[in-house]
Amino acid sequence: MEQSRPVFLVTGKNGQVGWELQRLSKNYPAIEWVFTDRTELDLSNPESIDAFFLNRSVHVVMNVGAYTAVDKAESEQDLAFQINAAAVGQLARICAKQSARLITISTDYVFPGQSEKPYPVNQPTDPINYYGYTKSVGEQMALTEDPFSWIVRTSWVYSSHGHNFVKTMLRLMKERTAIQVVADQVGAPTYAADLAEALIQMGHASVNDGSKPGGIYHYSNAANISWFDFAVAIRDNAGLNCEVNPIPSSSFPTPAKRPSYSVMDLKKIEEDFQISIKDWQERLKACMLELGY
Ligand SMILES: NC(=O)c1ccc[n+]([C@@H]2O[C@H](COP(=O)([O-])OP(=O)(O)OC[C@H]3O[C@@H](n4cnc5c(N)ncnc54)[C@H](OP(=O)(O)O)[C@@H]3O)[C@@H](O)[C@H]2O)c1
Repeated sequence: MEQSRPVFLVTGKNGQVGWELQRLSKNYPAIEWVFTDRTELDLSNPESIDAFFLNRSVHVVMNVGAYTAVDKAESEQDLAFQINAAAVGQLARICAKQSARLITISTDYVFPGQSEKPYPVNQPTDPINYYGYTKSVGEQMALTEDPFSWIVRTSWVYSSHGHNFVKTMLRLMKERTAIQVVADQVGAPTYAADLAEALIQMGHASVNDGSKPGGIYHYSNAANISWFDFAVAIRDNAGLNCEVNPIPSSSFPTPAKRPSYSVMDLKKIEEDFQISIKDWQERLKACMLELGY
């Protein structure tokens, strides 16, 4: 008799990470993949979430759908909270009932940004914007509803698909002779394809050992750079001539405050899942190659 394949359910399939998961899923035919967008599983609607799981059982839920508009979250607070916090708690409750593993993504923006060394996973959170607040409540709700949940905090995500800093910079650098980029916010970029691969590795680990404890993990590419440094590397990789000038955050006011320092310590995910951390410059090159540079 043919053995049934483990079912991995993905929310937000058209986002950067969701899209990379769809792409990579073709390399993993031993998994039964179920990809959903908001028309099939709407994280803003608790009834839609319950209805989706009625009569359906899964082994792993990869919750990569989210309310990601950091500035807009300051004014659309109820919607951001429902998607990033309440829905995550609801998914965890469902996973606990089904003995499924919830892997949900959080952010470096749960940290206030005052540190000068990478944040360990157990560093107390203290977000300085509403998006970060919703994500930190989502983390707590996930672990309260299902202590086996895995929270994966990531930062500065980019991909050849979707909206992100790399694509915005390339557009601006082609339109203008000079641009200004914030130089006093330091963090680590993450190529969405690498995060997707890490999530798949975690999914496999869960299938192999369902009793592996829950907890918080950090994942990004290896870096300690400012947005300005990132922009310069993007320009140089693309072979463009645009002048890139550093500015302080105070010259670029936004509705949501950003942490000045948000590099995360990545040791725990390396040790617990043997996930290798990749160099940010190599991964930027890989993405730019895909974008035709
Ligand atoms: N992007 C970053 O720099 C960054 C940094 C740190 C952490 N993260 C976290 O990483 C994860 C993945 O981010 P990403 O960059 O892949 O985000 P993204 O590209 O903005 O994609 C988010 C996805 O969520 C979907 N979504 C929004 N509202 C939904 C709803 N009500 N129901 C179902 N799906 C909904 C969106 O659907 P539509 O396509 O229909 O809009 C989109 O496909 C998120 O948890 C995010 O918070 C991202």
